[in-house]
Amino acid sequence: MNILGIESSCDETSIAILNDGNVKTNLIASQHFHNKFGGVIPELSSRAHLQQIIPLIKQSLLETKIELEDLDLICATAGPGLIGALLVGLTFGKSLSLSLNKPFVPVNHIEGHIFSGFLMKEKPKYPFLSIVVSGGHTLLLLVKSEFEIIKLGSTIDDALGEAFDKVSKMIGLGYPGGPLIQEAAVKGDEDIFNFPIAKTKGKYDFSFSGLKTSVLRTIQKLSNEREITETEKNNIATSFQKAAVGAIINRVMLVLNEIKVNSISLVGGVAANKKLRDEIKLIGEKFKISVVIPKIEYCGDNAAMIAFRGYQYHKAGKKFNLNSNAYPSLPFETFNEM
Ligand code: KG4
Ligand code: ZN
Repeated sequence: MNILGIESSCDETSIAILNDGNVKTNLIASQHFHNKFGGVIPELSSRAHLQQIIPLIKQSLLETKIELEDLDLICATAGPGLIGALLVGLTFGKSLSLSLNKPFVPVNHIEGHIFSGFLMKEKPKYPFLSIVVSGGHTLLLLVKSEFEIIKLGSTIDDALGEAFDKVSKMIGLGYPGGPLIQEAAVKGDEDIFNFPIAKTKGKYDFSFSGLKTSVLRTIQKLSNEREITETEKNNIATSFQKAAVGAIINRVMLVLNEIKVNSISLVGGVAANKKLRDEIKLIGEKFKISVVIPKIEYCGDNAAMIAFRGYQYHKAGKKFNLNSNAYPSLPFETFNEM
C-alpha cells in the first residue's frame, strides 16, 4: 500500500510516501525566513505552504517512481497547529483524495509524534512511556496500545521547546532556539549558574516559566552596566539546558519508579537535543528498558510520521468522510471516536 503523508501545521511543509510502514521518501521544506522575525508569522507560513506543497508532491513522486494514481491512501495533519497553515495541507489532501477516489485520513499531529518511533528499525514495545517534547507540547504519556494513550503529565505553562526558543532570544542567539542553545552549550560551563527545576502540584507535570524568569534575572543582573560576554552567553545556555533537561529526567525517573513499561520513546522537535537523548539513553540502561529515539529527521515536524499514524487508523478500519475540519487545538484520539 502506498501512503501519502502531508504535514503543514507550522513552519515545515513536508510530504512523505510510505510503502506500508516503510518510508520511501520524506521531504521537508523548512521556512527559515521566519528566523529574522524571531518566531513564526502565521500568514507567511500559510503562503509558503501554498507555494511549496505541489513542487514537493512532484518531487516525491519522481524520487519514488510512483505515479499519482498509484497512491492508495492520503493522510494529512488536521491539528493542532496554525489554522491557516493546517488548511493548506488538509484541503490539498482532501482534494487529492476526491480526485483520485482514494481514502483520506485526517491525522492528529501529536499522535504523529507519539508513534514516530515506529519509523525506526527497533520499535517501541507496548506499553511504552512516550516523552513528547516540542515547540508546543511537553507531555508524559503511557501508550498502552495503538489507540489507548493515557496522559500522565504535561507542562502547566511553557512547552520545553518554547523555553529553549525564549531563552535563546533573551541571550541574542536567534530562532529557532533549540539548536542554537545546544551549540552554545557545548562551549560553556554548566556549573557557573544554578537555575532551578520547578516543583509542580501534579507529580508528573512540568513548569518552565520560573526557569525562564530566573534566566532573565541573571541576564539583567549581568547586563546592568555592560553587554554580556560570549562566555557568559555560553555559560547561561549550558546551565539552562542542564536545568531544562534535568526537569524531564526528574519526572521520567518518578514515572519509571512507579509504572512498569517495556520501552521509553523520546519524540518531538526537542528530542533532537543531544544532552536529552544521551540522558534518556542512560536511564534506559539503568532501568534495563529499551529506548527508541527517532533519527533527527523524524524528531522535528515531518510527513512520514503523519502517513504512519494515518496508516494505523486505516488498518484499524477507521473511515473518514471529506467533511473533516482543521483544528488549532486537538486532543489525542479524537479521530478514534469518529
Ligand atoms: O516538533 P517541532 O519541530 O514543532 C512543533 O510541533 O512544535 O519542535 C520544534 C521545537 C522548537 O522549539 C525548537 O527550538 C526545538 O524543537 N528544537 C530543539 C532542538 N532542535 C529543535 N530544542 C533543543 N535542542 C535541539 N537540538
Ligand atoms: Zn511537531
